[in-house]
Amino acid sequence: MADNTNILSEEKDGILYLTINRESKLNALNFATLEEIRNIFNEVSDNKDIKAVIITGAGEKAFIAGADISEIAELNELNARKFAENGQEIFSLIENCHKPVIALVNGFALGGGCELAMACHMRIASANAKFGQPEVNLGIIPGYGGTQRLTYLVGRGKANELMMTGDMIGAEEAKSLGLVNHVCENKEAALEKAEEIIHKIMAKAPLAIGMVVDCVNSVFIKGENGYQTEANSFARCVKSGDYKEGTSAFLEKRKPEFKGE
Ligand code: COA
Repeated sequence: MADNTNILSEEKDGILYLTINRESKLNALNFATLEEIRNIFNEVSDNKDIKAVIITGAGEKAFIAGADISEIAELNELNARKFAENGQEIFSLIENCHKPVIALVNGFALGGGCELAMACHMRIASANAKFGQPEVNLGIIPGYGGTQRLTYLVGRGKANELMMTGDMIGAEEAKSLGLVNHVCENKEAALEKAEEIIHKIMAKAPLAIGMVVDCVNSVFIKGENGYQTEANSFARCVKSGDYKEGTSAFLEKRKPEFKGE
């Protein structure tokens, strides 16, 4: 993994641990950090040794407190659209990654932080997590896909309420809304939970996991026939060696050994 200034990365036993590391700014996402995320996820797709990703924020106080407001304050009408499209493009790389990506949310996940967490495949929160889309306080709206992903995750009424009021909600409420998969006592317990889920996934056929990502995402692509995507993806799985291995292992009453081929 190339050297990054704003993100710590460590690879261990197939899991890439990413920590957004701007603690003095509550890990706010500046342009440089976004570009690092883009480069990392391009590399994750190509790197066979990386099987899964966990993203968190440095320290106990914040996951990510939003896009960097000092940069947002300099936007103009001409570059604002590009600003949003760029963030959307980078977060789509996360969402479309064929390897599981889990957000481990500690503390504030606001604005772009909540949007980044929502682009991940799952969210595990520590009890002190707080979620919100407070952009209206700044005279703007979410621009990194938040209006869309929040609505898909929690439904129209609650998404409108959260984005119109800018209110923050706690971890338990986020879970009850479907924004969070699990709530754990603290960051360490949340990490254990994320690793437990990832280890389960890592024992499955990698190609099939990637196809699940594509099919789930297809639900949200207007104009795409998700059932057709599912049938095509199913057929792709059946072409793989892992399909032969999985079905043979079942019939031979042994554990499958998937190769991702
Ligand atoms: N962008 C840039 N800097 C940010 C930031 C952001 N989104 N969020 C926090 N920071 C910085 C603060 O400016 C402060 O920096 P400083 O010490 O150099 O002044 C530092 O992080 C600590 O934040 P502070 O506001 O002092 O902490 P707090 O505990 O009083 O409040 C929050 C925490 C999260 C409630 C508050 O920082 C906040 O509202 N942040 C902005 C959230 C937001 O609107 N996000 C959406 C942006 S689109």
